[in-house]
Amino acid sequence: MISPDMQDAILKSINAAMKSKKLYPPGHPAIAAPSKKSYDLLTDVLKTQKNLMIGNVNDALVFEDHPVSNGEQMFPELLAHLADKQVDAVIFEKGVTEKELFSLFDTLAGQDAPKGQELHKLLHAKGVTHITLKTVRKKIVEIYNGAVETVKNVMNDVRLGKIPKSEPVNDVVNELTESVLSDANAIIGLTMIKNYDNYLYNHSVNVSIIALSLGKAMNIDRDELHAVGIGALLHDIGKTGVSEQIIRKPGGLSSDEWEKIKEHPLLGSNIIKRMDGMTELIGKLIYEHHIRFDHSGYPQTMSNLHPLTQIITISDAFDALTTLRVYQQPHNPAEALRVMLNFSGRHFNPDALNVFINMIGTYPVGTLVRLSSNEIGVVTSVNKDALELPAIKLLFDKNGEALPAPVPLDLAADSSRSVISTVNPTTADIDLAAFFEKEGAEKEHAA
Ligand SMILES: [Fe+2]
Ligand SMILES: [Fe+2]
Repeated sequence: MISPDMQDAILKSINAAMKSKKLYPPGHPAIAAPSKKSYDLLTDVLKTQKNLMIGNVNDALVFEDHPVSNGEQMFPELLAHLADKQVDAVIFEKGVTEKELFSLFDTLAGQDAPKGQELHKLLHAKGVTHITLKTVRKKIVEIYNGAVETVKNVMNDVRLGKIPKSEPVNDVVNELTESVLSDANAIIGLTMIKNYDNYLYNHSVNVSIIALSLGKAMNIDRDELHAVGIGALLHDIGKTGVSEQIIRKPGGLSSDEWEKIKEHPLLGSNIIKRMDGMTELIGKLIYEHHIRFDHSGYPQTMSNLHPLTQIITISDAFDALTTLRVYQQPHNPAEALRVMLNFSGRHFNPDALNVFINMIGTYPVGTLVRLSSNEIGVVTSVNKDALELPAIKLLFDKNGEALPAPVPLDLAADSSRSVISTVNPTTADIDLAAFFEKEGAEKEHAA
């Protein structure tokens, strides 16, 4: 156990080292003194324990898992550099040398040093082996936006006649999978925000997130989940081979135009075949995504469908139905599920659809709802035993005034109020992205 005085001395010397890096040129004695002091103190502590951790958790300084009171005021340089470099925690290990500490202070305070995981790699390359940097997990909105960017790049590569690289696609799907496995509610919430310019890219990401969630709910194994995530992310990649004019056309298509659209699953699976390391399964899922459970749809085939195809078909239909399109007013999620239920056993595998409906709930996470009390809230989790009674957070009171902070309310435990309708977030002027970003951050903090 490290004494409070010792803790204070260590933090002070490290903070002073960071501060002097900013004020003095390299080699100045004002830098050497606090660095040496930090080294002496750390070596002392590491005689009796294996390692020591200093961290930044949601902008609060943490020492050995305990928040440091007044950390922001007492050690601002240290905290600012950790935050700026997206470092979650610094772990000093027994055997740490003075030179290693110097390198750490240098890179943490460095103007153009990389951030996060890259910074850790840089330190390692410099021969630092007794200090580990743990990096902040990316926030879900960053992951979501990064995925949209990746789909855009991949599709642009195809349009330019290039073969897209597989690595960024794999990375994005790994990130989405991790988000879905750790906190599906937060990232599904993002798929419900439908205010964007380019339908195709966001739709691709949404379908991937929804499909990964459905795959998880169906307990498919990790390799299959990865294939489903990629297949869903790139399911419409073949649309790059169909003219924009046809894709964006409002109203009915001529039969020639329709024939063109129907080529996109085959075009897509052909693109996948040329990409490095993409499996046959991924190509098959893309080829089959418009073939329905009863074999109607397109392309025409009588051969057996892969059982995982339905995961993408269902997710695709749900995202398309709940989005405003040139030819369609969006359905609210509850209506979309009702529409889909009408096609159970025809377009959709009834078992998979049931799992889906249970997962999404009557009022999916991210849906804005108006209550019988006239209050407005956002759904934060689905109650599997009573889909019409989700847990929500109230955002507006009965007079339409925004509440100073969201108020949690579990409708299953409070019979005084019920959901009477859904509310369109764009007309209600609510920034749901910011809301789910914050939710995610709070959960991470709590966990
Ligand atoms: Fe499609
Ligand atoms: Fe689609």
